[in-house]
Amino acid sequence: MDSSTLSDPAAIMRQKKAGGHRLATLTAYDYAFGRILDDLGLDLILVGDSLGMVQLGHRDTTQVTIEIMEHHTRAVAAGVRKTLLVSDLPAGSYTTPDQALSNARRLVAAGAKAVKVEGGNDILPQIQAILADGIPVLGHLGMLPQHVREEGGYHIKGESSEEAETILADALALDEAGVLGIVLELVQPDAAEAVTMAISCPTIGIGSGEFCDGNILVIHDLLGLFPWFKPRFVTPKADLAGAIGEAVRSYCDDVRGTSSDSAA
Ligand code: KIV
Repeated sequence: MDSSTLSDPAAIMRQKKAGGHRLATLTAYDYAFGRILDDLGLDLILVGDSLGMVQLGHRDTTQVTIEIMEHHTRAVAAGVRKTLLVSDLPAGSYTTPDQALSNARRLVAAGAKAVKVEGGNDILPQIQAILADGIPVLGHLGMLPQHVREEGGYHIKGESSEEAETILADALALDEAGVLGIVLELVQPDAAEAVTMAISCPTIGIGSGEFCDGNILVIHDLLGLFPWFKPRFVTPKADLAGAIGEAVRSYCDDVRGTSSDSAA
């Protein structure tokens, strides 16, 4: 990752899309993961408010606060030097342009280089206020986890032509405002492809088919570290929960002298 990505993320992300580069991105929530991921050539690391679920045991992301996001952003930022670090503004922290700006500044002070917000035209004034202050913004359309309670679950978006048109209109507005990219979560693949073709900033899909400009996953899902919930669209690349089980059982056997080695 060259340092210009950090100085003008929106321009660099658009260049990457124009050059056909596919964006590989992941979440991180603490120093160790931030530091490990920073050396792996990812296009972006997100301190996602999904930390409410995978780090704090909440049932969804809606109870995560700006203080919690600051805390985890600071931890990840301590390990990230090269990769673009984006942090989520949590639910209820960007209801007005002034509030959005002051909370975006808090995340930047904690080490984020950009912030992510969920929504389209409904939050355009907030996005414009943050961008006008020189803070890059990553958009998020489709299924919006911060609204999961009103929506009654995690449902695919853009299946009806009306919904697909709304997502497209929101994406066009965000693109024109100058966001660095747009996460498309659980968007019906044809609708995601239509958005991807219509805008100049990259789309980063999660459960939205193969026609986005890149992909993002919660790192716990990729690594098999959250065995209690496995999204249908993820193929885990490791079984860390299983590996932890094996290592801890082996440790217990060593300490208690119950391993087959010590019995022999
Ligand atoms: O909170 C999060 O981790 C996210 C990504 C999964 C897109 O919003």
